[in-house]
This record gives sequence, structure tokens and C-alpha cells, in this order.
Amino acid sequence: LFYRAMLLWSVWSAMLLLTPLEAAEEDVRAGCSTAVNDLVYIIDGSWSVGFSDFDTAKQWLINITSQFDISSHYTQVAVIQYSDTPRLEIPLGKHQGGADLLQAIQSITYLGGNTQTGRAIKFAVDHVFSSSQRASLVKNRIAVVVTDGKSQDDVVDASMEARAQGITVFAVGVGSEITTSELVSIANKPSSTYVLYAEDYTTIDRIRDSMEQKLCEESVCPTRIPVASRDEKGFELMVGMNIQKKAKKIPGSLVSETAYTLTASTDITESKIFPEGLPPSYVFVATVRLKGTSSKLPFDLWRVLSKDKEVQAAVTLSGKDKAVTFTTTSMTEKEQRVIFKDAEHTVKNTLYDGKWHQLKLLVRPRQVISFLDDQQMQEVMLDPVEPIYINGETQVSKRRGTDATVPVEIQKLRLYCDPHQSERETACEIYSVVRPSSICILSVPQGKEGKPGDPGPSGLPGIKVRGLYILMPLNSNLWLESTVNPRQLSLHGDCKVTLNVTSHCPGLCFRMLSSICWLSQ
Ligand SMILES: *[C@@H]1O[C@H](CO)[C@@H](O)[C@H](O)[C@H]1NC(C)=O
Ligand SMILES: *[C@@H]1O[C@H](CO)[C@@H](O)[C@H](O)[C@H]1NC(C)=O
Repeated sequence: LFYRAMLLWSVWSAMLLLTPLEAAEEDVRAGCSTAVNDLVYIIDGSWSVGFSDFDTAKQWLINITSQFDISSHYTQVAVIQYSDTPRLEIPLGKHQGGADLLQAIQSITYLGGNTQTGRAIKFAVDHVFSSSQRASLVKNRIAVVVTDGKSQDDVVDASMEARAQGITVFAVGVGSEITTSELVSIANKPSSTYVLYAEDYTTIDRIRDSMEQKLCEESVCPTRIPVASRDEKGFELMVGMNIQKKAKKIPGSLVSETAYTLTASTDITESKIFPEGLPPSYVFVATVRLKGTSSKLPFDLWRVLSKDKEVQAAVTLSGKDKAVTFTTTSMTEKEQRVIFKDAEHTVKNTLYDGKWHQLKLLVRPRQVISFLDDQQMQEVMLDPVEPIYINGETQVSKRRGTDATVPVEIQKLRLYCDPHQSERETACEIYSVVRPSSICILSVPQGKEGKPGDPGPSGLPGIKVRGLYILMPLNSNLWLESTVNPRQLSLHGDCKVTLNVTSHCPGLCFRMLSSICWLSQ
């Protein structure tokens, strides 16, 4: 009877474990490798490629596929080879398991023939993506078209149809015979993201990291942040973490900026901020002013915790030892931490002087680089990281190991998925960064769209400029800052400018109110 009871009990507990409720509450790791993608490679097998380069192309596909967990839960891959007609080499979901799939890609034999790229894309849309057995579950449908020449048929209609069906198309051009305009019409916009070039097949390995990162961004960075005139993939944490709702508004580092002040009773804790994990590379940017406790006590400015409160990613500030610590996962240890210390000779400013500063961390798969107010501080190597646990909470400004909030003033808190955003993200909002030689154009929150203007008058004769002056028509929501006294400037054209000399700007801060406006010294 005892054994019967034991058996029943174990059957019962096994059933308990399998109930969907239990499964949903388990903490799971997520990242690029666990993304739920239907990924279709469309590769050029025309005569111009040649046997040996075709082998290289296959190896490249194998290399970029290795980062995904291949299974019916995560990424499924199909391969189409095309010349005059497309040939379905590997159907979606045929191989469950990476090794089988990579073996199958390796065994694809070269076709030879003409280049009918449009037809191959249409085939992918009509027959391959549509054959997916898990159409309602799949999160991203991605096509990667690899070609070495100009298509002999039209690519526009097929590519438009792919996009209309929500398929993201990357175009990879190899060699000098490619037509840029054709790759641009095949791929999604912006082409700076979705078109990649390799000089030839022997150097295609050079765009492997960038292809891997882009496929990852597609999988784990669903949102876009408007930055200047571009939309960047990433996480706007001021909004996502409800800082703008929960904290009190205060004036920011410049007149054009707004910041928020967190008090000890503000709790900034959210879950599901990174539902698909973090990308392998990203840029963390925070503009903060640390006063009182926050300039002394160590605290996590930002942290991602697992369900059992283990740190998955964190940026910790410590005024006492003037350090910034970055914590991430590790393949071998529980976690890994890298410490950046303020070195007097490299960093004039310190994060802990009670003024506004911008801290930026460029995180790469094997290294982290820290910047303070646009000046590079240090570069530190990382051990390989693991995907993060995603079912815990993300928090802002908490004492290490507790839920107590450390009062802090925050103006910007973002995580960009494209590592190149690190070069574009300047610290223009920081007073001391605006140097005479650099003119920062900052956008202020956009108002309602106005009525279309009248056609403009014909242009004015050119103006001779002395010194640094910019002759740029600006629209009214752009602020310009410079160190030159406003009274030394002459205005040209239909020029209406408002000046704000009482602002935090070093010299002047002016707003162009009319669009045909030039300034000279
Ligand atoms: C594939 O990866 C291996 C190992 O990293 C590398 O040696 C090789 O050059 C890569 N080949 C291509 C075509 O990307
Ligand atoms: C000028 O700057 C001050 C202080 O920064 C601000 O309070 C004021 O509103 C600004 N004036 C205009 C017209 O923007």
C-alpha cells in the first residue's frame, strides 16, 4: 500500500508540475538564442557565384545560424537556393536541433543558372513562410537574401508583398557586381540597418558579427525610440519604467530638457521590460544628477533581477569610491562584475560632483567601454555571458540587495540595441560638453503639427562667414547653442530668433522661429 501511495503521489506531483500555471511561473532565460523566429535564407546559386564561393556562403549561413537554438519552440530555419527558379533546400521546421540543420546546410549542392531574385522572394512569401506550422506563435518572420549580382527579374513587387505580410527582409550584397538600388528596394527601411555589403565571399566573415547583431536586434528589441530624425531600436526606460508618471518633474540640465526627481518613497519597479532578454551588444545611457545620499551610498541605478532576486544586469554607482560597476551574467560564475574607477588624469569631471552628467556604457559580447560626458573612460574585457532570466523585475535607483529607493534626479535612461548608437549619442545636454567647436542641436518636445507653409522665396546671395558660423535653416523646434555673444551676430533672411541669455547655455541659446534664417558673425 505504501508503494501504491508513493506511486500515486509521484504521479500526482508530476501532473502538478505540468500544469500550465506552474510552467508560467517558472523563471526562464531568454535572449537572442531563444527568440521565436521563422528565419528563411534565400541564397544566390547563379553561375556568377562559382563552386568555391557558394561553399563559403553556406559556411557563413552556418556561422550565423549557430547563435540560435533551433527547435519548434525557438528559431526555425528554411533555406531556398535560387537561380532561374527557386529550389526549397530545407523546409521550415524540418530539423529540430542545430546539428542536423547545420549538416543539412552543409550538404546543399550548387545549382548554377541565371539570377531571378524576385521570383525567389515571391516563392519564400507564398510557399515557405506560409507553410509554418506555428504561424500564430512565431514572433518574428525574417528573410535574409544573399546575392552577388543584379537580378534579371523585378524584385520590387515581391519585396513589397513580403513587407506587407510583416516579413522583415535583409539584403546582403556580395562583390562589386551588385546594384545598391536593388538591394535597397529588396530590404526593409532604413537601408542602413537592413542592407549589408561584403567586398567578396572571402571577406563575408567580416559582416558576420553585424549580421548576428542585427538578427538579434530584430528578435529582442521590438520597440523603437525616436532620436533626432531616426528611429532607434531600444528601450526608453523613462517611459517603460513609468518614471515620467511616478516621479516629480523638475527642470533638466538645459532649458530644453525635463528631468524627474525620485524620492525615497518613489518605487520604480516593473516587470516584463525585457520580455525577450537583452541583445548581445547594447548601449546604456543615463543622464543623472547625484546629490546627497546618491552621491555617497552605493546603489543600483538600474538593475534587472531574476525571480529569486539574482542580478542579471546592473549599473551600480558608488560615490564613496568614485566608481561605476557593471554587472552581467557569466557562463562560468554566478555573475561577473567590472569596475570603472574615476581616474583623475583622464576624467576632468566626476559623476559625483552634484552636477548633471551623462554616463554611457557600450556593452559588447566580450567587452564593456564606459564614457562620462562623451569622454571615454575605460575599456574592460568580459567573459562570455548567458541569456538573462526574464521573469523577475527591473528596478531603478535601489540600494544594493534591498528594495529601498535612493533619491536621485534622472533626465535620461535608455538602452539602445544598436552598438553604433554609441557614436551618435552625444552628451549635448551636458553644459560642460558644449564647447565652442561643437554646436549641439537639441530638439525640444515637438508640438502639434502646423499648417503647411507658403512656397519659399528664391534664395539670397551667399553670405561671407567669419569664424565658426552655421548657415542653416532650422525649424522652430530646434535650439542652437553657442558661446558667441548674440549681439555679435547678424541675422539674414526671414529671420526671427528668440534668445534666452538667462538659460544654462554657456553663451547664448537661441531658437529659430522662421525657417529661412541665416546667422553670420
Ligand atoms: C565561420 O566561422 C569560423 C570559426 O569562427 C571561421 O573560421 C570562418 O572563417 C567562418 N566562415 C565564414 C564564411 O563566415
Ligand atoms: C529662459 O531660461 C530660463 C532659465 O533657464 C527659463 O526659466 C525661461 O523660461 C527661459 N525663457 C524662454 C523664453 O524660454
